[in-house]
Amino acid sequence: MKPIHVGLIGAGTVGGGTATVLKRNAAEISRRAGREIRLFMAADRDLVRAREVCGDDVLLVDDAFAVATHPEVDIVVELIGGDTVAKEVVLKAIEHGKHVVTANKKLLAIHGNEIFAKAQEKGVTVAFEAAVAGGIPIIKALREGLSANHIEWIAGIINGTSNFILTEMREQGSDFADVLKEAQRLGYAEADPTFDVEGHDAGHKLTIMAALAFGIPMQFDKCYLEGISRLDGRDIKYAEELGYRVKLLGLTRRTDKGVELRVHPTLIPEGRLIANVNGVMNAVLVKGDAVGPTLYYGAGAGALPTASAVVADIVDVTRLATADPEHRVPHLAFQPDQLQDLTILPI
Ligand code: HSE
Repeated sequence: MKPIHVGLIGAGTVGGGTATVLKRNAAEISRRAGREIRLFMAADRDLVRAREVCGDDVLLVDDAFAVATHPEVDIVVELIGGDTVAKEVVLKAIEHGKHVVTANKKLLAIHGNEIFAKAQEKGVTVAFEAAVAGGIPIIKALREGLSANHIEWIAGIINGTSNFILTEMREQGSDFADVLKEAQRLGYAEADPTFDVEGHDAGHKLTIMAALAFGIPMQFDKCYLEGISRLDGRDIKYAEELGYRVKLLGLTRRTDKGVELRVHPTLIPEGRLIANVNGVMNAVLVKGDAVGPTLYYGAGAGALPTASAVVADIVDVTRLATADPEHRVPHLAFQPDQLQDLTILPI
């Protein structure tokens, strides 16, 4: 069988990690997918960087749209972030009948309804495991592992940068700005780190999880956002004296009246598991009516953990793309034409 061809857009932190994982674990990945997966093409503004990351046997271009429209590319992997060029590129790829894998939470939280509707119309898949909680397979858990359940609520530490900052401030007494710089150096932070520390990134991820869990459209504009930028060392110290840890939580809950969607710093008793999730680690608690509370834990940011989720999606999409179209399971998060527009409760 002909190999499946991957076209990578963006050779930065996550793009580099993705190329590394695809190469390092090539045999296992292709065996699991049931077909050889080949990194065929990559686009980046910096072709030297792209060559370093992808090697010499990959077709390199500096135009993302060339990947999105190339006849030999089967799966487009969008890793440029943001919601301007990324949106155009993803829609263009879908238009050309490509499956899409993306780590772009902002894009989906703001334009997901349009993108999924377009993908459904074109009969292609948009997979996005890496958009939420880095390497933790939380999208799979919500879509598959917990599919028997009525989901009651989700609560999670879903921004690695903020959790890293809060941890370093508590454990080392470090200065907020210094730790943020370190998070940027380690490749955890967004291109604009305001998104991390003001709660936007967590809000994007929460919006996506709520859509999956409750079958509602993406409604990021209704999400209450409060970040950690106004906290200082004293807040963390006093909380600790009282037996609490400060964590930036994303919380969503479904009630008869609507859905709550909120991100804010929260005091958590220090004995709770989630209070002891430190550094860049993320943790997501999901309560289902049948299973009860469940907890998912792992690295929430960084090149290789995020690449783990991107490549898992490439494997998944390869299986779907290879299956008989008659028996192909729809891979969408939800059916865009069957969504309930539940009221988002005011805070
Ligand atoms: N900036 C994000 C974080 C990256 O710190 O969690 C992973 O989505």
